[in-house]
Amino acid sequence: MAFCSVCKFLRRGKYFVLLLLVLSVLAWIATFAGETMKSVQVSPTTVQTVHKGETLEGELNSLRSVTDLQNTPAPKVKCPEESPLLQGALKLSFESSLTLKDVEQENKAVAEGQYRPPDCTARQSVAILIPHRNREKHLLYLLHHLHPFLQRQQLHYSIYVIQQAGDATFNRAKLLNVGYLEALKDYNWECFIFHDVDLVPENDYNLYICDKQPKHLVVGRNATGYKLRYKGYFGGVTAMTKDQFHKVNGFSNIYWGWGGEDDDLRIRVELQKMKIVRPPPDVARYTMVFHKRDSGNEINKDRMRLLGRTPQVWRKDGLKNCLYKTLSIERLPLYVNVTVDIGKPQAS
Ligand code: BGC
Repeated sequence: MAFCSVCKFLRRGKYFVLLLLVLSVLAWIATFAGETMKSVQVSPTTVQTVHKGETLEGELNSLRSVTDLQNTPAPKVKCPEESPLLQGALKLSFESSLTLKDVEQENKAVAEGQYRPPDCTARQSVAILIPHRNREKHLLYLLHHLHPFLQRQQLHYSIYVIQQAGDATFNRAKLLNVGYLEALKDYNWECFIFHDVDLVPENDYNLYICDKQPKHLVVGRNATGYKLRYKGYFGGVTAMTKDQFHKVNGFSNIYWGWGGEDDDLRIRVELQKMKIVRPPPDVARYTMVFHKRDSGNEINKDRMRLLGRTPQVWRKDGLKNCLYKTLSIERLPLYVNVTVDIGKPQAS
């Protein structure tokens, strides 16, 4: 009997353990479900956080675009027709102690010979071409005056010095053709100034820009009492647009030594029915830095004969057949130095 009661108890205990087991499983499920609920409840916060993040990012982005706007240079206005920086007649000085370093220091805004006005878009982009050989001091004086002069005129400009290599007779005109062709490889310059190294402009109202017609800028110079040398004089410093110069096939390549090449260019201009214009005489004034005639640039005795042939040969002789070998192109702080082998005089 007693044995039977034990058996009954054990059987009931089994159910009790089973019940306990079921209850703990339920409790565990309940706990797990609670966690899940909790995480579901957390999610809105997370969503909110993400949302907040997005807003912040948006705000940052709009801030960033405002800063970007501030950093992007505003489109520059066109420079005024008359620069407010012009000073008129200048007192020129030629200090023998001047060095290239001094001129570089004075023209920090010039890089590789080139300058753009900082506050406005220049009305013209101008390449200044200076043919050169062994005239370092003249070049230094010219650079010293020309850089600030051009900056006061608010021009986008670059200075090219074209050096004739070797000791064959000098050929100013061919060097200028080379300068034109080489400068156009750098930039689509709209205006070219063909500039002697020994002429320094005295008045910054003498604008180094091109006109509708070829322009002659040297009406007078100190050495000749500031008088135009003769009616058709077209030497020293001249300004022609890219198209005007192209139209006349540039300079002739066959004038070796001093004289005639500028008269030849005038004939080409006249043959194209263009008319030479000049600024007023009180403005177009130059100081010529004194020098003796260079050896290697003797007077060209053949020039009158050559001038007589210009109407027949200008189409073939010029930019179209300008053969040369560029020996080096140095981008110096104040100018681009193009050294070139242009050959030597050929019997013609
Ligand atoms: C020459 C020119 C020169 C002018 C002024 C003329 O006889 O042919 O090349 O520019 O004189 O010196």
